[in-house]
Amino acid sequence: MHIERLQLTNFRNYIELEFDVPHGISIFQGDNAQGKTNLLEAICFMATTRLSRSVPDKELINWDMMQQKIPFSRLSASINRSDREVLLEIVLQPRSAQYQSSSFPIPIQKHIRVNGVARRAFDLVGQLNMVMFSPRDIDLIGGEPALRRRHLDITNSQVDPQYLRKLQRYNKVLGQRNHLLRQIAMHHGHPDELVFWDNELVQLGAWIVFQRQQTIASISELSKPIHDQLSGGKEVLALHYQPNLESATSNLASLDDIEQAFNEELTAAREKELIRGQTSVGPHRDELRFLINNVDMGTYGSRGQQRTTALSIKLAEAKFMLTQTEEPPVLLLDDVLSELDRERREHILEAVSSYQQVLMTTTDLDRFPSDFLAQAERFEVKNGAIHPGDS
Ligand SMILES: Nc1ncnc2c1ncn2[C@@H]1O[C@H](COP(=O)(O)OP(=O)(O)OP(=O)(O)O)[C@@H](O)[C@H]1O
Ligand SMILES: [Mg+2]
Repeated sequence: MHIERLQLTNFRNYIELEFDVPHGISIFQGDNAQGKTNLLEAICFMATTRLSRSVPDKELINWDMMQQKIPFSRLSASINRSDREVLLEIVLQPRSAQYQSSSFPIPIQKHIRVNGVARRAFDLVGQLNMVMFSPRDIDLIGGEPALRRRHLDITNSQVDPQYLRKLQRYNKVLGQRNHLLRQIAMHHGHPDELVFWDNELVQLGAWIVFQRQQTIASISELSKPIHDQLSGGKEVLALHYQPNLESATSNLASLDDIEQAFNEELTAAREKELIRGQTSVGPHRDELRFLINNVDMGTYGSRGQQRTTALSIKLAEAKFMLTQTEEPPVLLLDDVLSELDRERREHILEAVSSYQQVLMTTTDLDRFPSDFLAQAERFEVKNGAIHPGDS
């Protein structure tokens, strides 16, 4: 799959951009703070309705525009897939009129259209598949578990249209159940009312655990040969899924087994949960670990090992998306070469060359071998605009 055309209005430092995205490899060179990352983030946002890292939605709208009477930001992309063409559009607008004076978080509404028809986020995600590589990927290995869950959820949502829908429903049910737990603790509700929410929570939650388990097993397998090569044969990488269900940690657990485990553990935790007013069991507490030669990289990995692990995982994810959807994802590489030694740099350039569309950013073209530069389209990014680069 590839993006034909990208249009941005008032998105971060892009006031008005219309850009025909080339097939193959494009390199975007520019000084610091010109809009290289913002360009890739715009594509990430079109694919997932999120940036690669969490930022408040209000920060996506150009800040000068936020002073205007009716601030908005618009992103659109036409996508060419092997089986169809798709036009995606997202418009961001503050929900209320009080945004100007407010220093509080401003609620931003996302209006999504797919082929001109108003849709929900879960209809959009999966239309444009991408994998974004960023210097921040290292946080995936050593950072908070929530980052890993978020990342895994985005990957799953891109390959399976049902995933995001079920995840959103799970989160809603979780919120309702937590609310009810607190009500019961204050004698405003009856424990019997929990049964309704428990059933739905278990069904949705078990399904999510099952999908996560499958995805992690696939990515773990795909990442092995990649990491073997990146580490010069010295390291064996494995992903280890730790669902927040003690009795379902076996990787061979079936959906039924997971449902049963979830049900039992939820029942066992009932009293404790009533005291705490919080659901303590379920995929919202899952953990994912990265092991090299059986050592946990989140805890013991050197920076270099964490970086290489993140790279292997991202390359494996791209392969995973390709095998699941039969469409090569668009690859976005934000300034990732600068932190790598020559060998790893060459390996990643070779690995990404086989994809249909690859967008890479850099401050410095010297980081690329000349034969690689020769096969790429080059652009200069300057102050929120893209110009053809010298060839
Ligand atoms: N909402 C916004 N409105 C206007 N400008 C913004 C907004 N959010 C971010 N910016 C600005 O956009 C500029 C470009 O940011 P970006 O991260 O894309 O730079 P970059 O070219 O990737 O730089 P670097 O080489 O340092 O990574 C920055 O100066 C940033 O402050
Ligand atoms: Mg940047």
